[in-house]
Amino acid sequence: MGRGIFVTGAGTEIGKTLVAAALAHQLLSRGEVVRVLKPVISGFDPTRPEISDTGLLLTAAGRAVTDAAIAHASPWRFAQPIAPNMAARRAGAPIDLDQVVAHCRAGLEGAGVLVIEGVGGVMAPITDQATGLDWMAALGLPAVLVGGSYLGAISHTLTAAAALMERAIPVAGVVISQSADQPVPLAETAAAVAALLPRIPVIEVPRMAQRPRPWEAVPDLTALVGPPKD
Ligand SMILES: Nc1ncnc2c1ncn2[C@@H]1O[C@H](COP(=O)(O)OP(=O)(O)OP(=O)(O)O)[C@@H](O)[C@H]1O
Ligand SMILES: [Mg+2]
Repeated sequence: MGRGIFVTGAGTEIGKTLVAAALAHQLLSRGEVVRVLKPVISGFDPTRPEISDTGLLLTAAGRAVTDAAIAHASPWRFAQPIAPNMAARRAGAPIDLDQVVAHCRAGLEGAGVLVIEGVGGVMAPITDQATGLDWMAALGLPAVLVGGSYLGAISHTLTAAAALMERAIPVAGVVISQSADQPVPLAETAAAVAALLPRIPVIEVPRMAQRPRPWEAVPDLTALVGPPKD
């Protein structure tokens, strides 16, 4: 199996796409072949694919945002911005988790590295019976957990980490992506999380100014993926 990393989150709208795009950009910049997948996406607007998570990830990975690229990176696209199992039910097209896992495995073949963005928080329902944890456990890739720095974020991040560890999903690291509002400095939140997660690297991503391609300004996260294979 090739190399890959799964970017998951303590919740939705927390910075997974920013972190996954930054990883794709940074790995590309060091000369790696990078593939990206956002296999399941809800709230997808087909009239504006370039600003979807899928479009942003493709752009960060140096790929054109074509219909074919979107269809390959995100085979399970739903218009409604709700939990995937509910969006799929409304679309009359329930998700088969085995197919999602198989698509991710296929993306792992070949040289280079695959960056996968999950959906919502670690336990977002993918099907009526399965959550993101089942997806990640089946794949067996190391996970990068993205948390925030809003009030309450420490517990959300630690709860998500505990859920990953309980299922033996390797946690390559935690990224604290600065929330729009935070009660204490970012470093204090990151230190609090690190103190309660021994041996797991915790990396801070400060609040990025609004700009095109914000992932280009994110601090280096490639240590979470490890060196290229010879
Ligand atoms: N560190 C940060 N600096 C600036 N903006 C940020 C930061 N982290 C997240 N954001 C912004 O917050 C919003 C949500 O981030 P993002 O899209 O990466 O979250 P997500 O976890 O991928 O959400 P979803 O669950 O919808 O996939 C975006 O507009 C993003 O640019
Ligand atoms: Mg996202």
